[in-house]
Amino acid sequence: MPLNQLWETLHNGVILNERIFNNLAEVQTEVTNLRKTYSGMARNGGGPNFSDAKVREAYALAYHPGHAHAYLQIMLNQGLGDSLIQGLGAQSSVGVLGAGAGAETLAFFSFFANRGFRPDGVTLSLIDQADWAVQRQQCCIAKVQEITGMLPKKIDSFIQDVVSPDALSLLSRFVPSNDLIFCPAIYTELEAKKKGHDFINDVCRLMKSQSKILVIDQAEVNGFAAACVEFAGIPQMRLIHQGNMTLRVPSPPAGSFASTVLDGVPYQNANGRIARTKYHFSWVLLQKN
Ligand SMILES: C[S@@+](CC[C@H](N)C(=O)[O-])C[C@H]1O[C@@H](n2cnc3c(N)ncnc32)[C@H](O)[C@@H]1O
Repeated sequence: MPLNQLWETLHNGVILNERIFNNLAEVQTEVTNLRKTYSGMARNGGGPNFSDAKVREAYALAYHPGHAHAYLQIMLNQGLGDSLIQGLGAQSSVGVLGAGAGAETLAFFSFFANRGFRPDGVTLSLIDQADWAVQRQQCCIAKVQEITGMLPKKIDSFIQDVVSPDALSLLSRFVPSNDLIFCPAIYTELEAKKKGHDFINDVCRLMKSQSKILVIDQAEVNGFAAACVEFAGIPQMRLIHQGNMTLRVPSPPAGSFASTVLDGVPYQNANGRIARTKYHFSWVLLQKN
């Protein structure tokens, strides 16, 4: 079962990547703080501060596995995965905007290999405004290798704020060079500053003919489900796939490091902590005419 394999692999041999925590309680505090940030994201006007290594670590441990599992579940069970890979050649280029630790990348290559394709012909390019190199290597790239037995033939990473004025030069090269573009869980962070909508429109404008874009995020956060309906009507873009799904996030395996950490972080809304026992995702997959 690809989902079970992904879940087990994600929790195998997980260690803290950076020597930044003195003890378990500090990790638990960081996960708690991240939950508080997410619960107030719309009100406070900003997402987590991923330039802080402790915040990246907390995300990689508490959120990345749930996202990867959810993305793979949607790809497998909603027909999204087959729509994503239809028409992709063995030498395709895949780009990710807001890649973080690479949950979508891991889910995509797991699906791709599950359908009998070889990741080692693919070129992968990742953009994020924070430097996720350490977490991404351990939680995505090494896991792609473990699950599929191979790696993309080329992996490029860029650190760039995609909505700053100087981003246009990179995006003008990056976007049209990819056959498939992922915008995974970045819209809701951008839209917290009212920049999500224009960003998706700008990316669509830069895309080359026949390339595809998947915009996927949490339905109920910052109006994302309604935004999907609007994205489906962007001029020159054809709607290939659209959906909503509520997903259960399994508990980390007993004895895993994540389980030890999360067992000590109570899921109490009264404390501003959101339980990540389930997600409600929406998505649109569009193709440029
Ligand atoms: C919730 S994380 C999603 C990570 C991963 N794609 C996933 O689905 O688990 C959102 C990512 O978007 C990035 N991000 C937010 N605003 C950004 C911006 N203006 N420019 C570039 N990256 C941004 C954050 O740094 C973070 O890594």
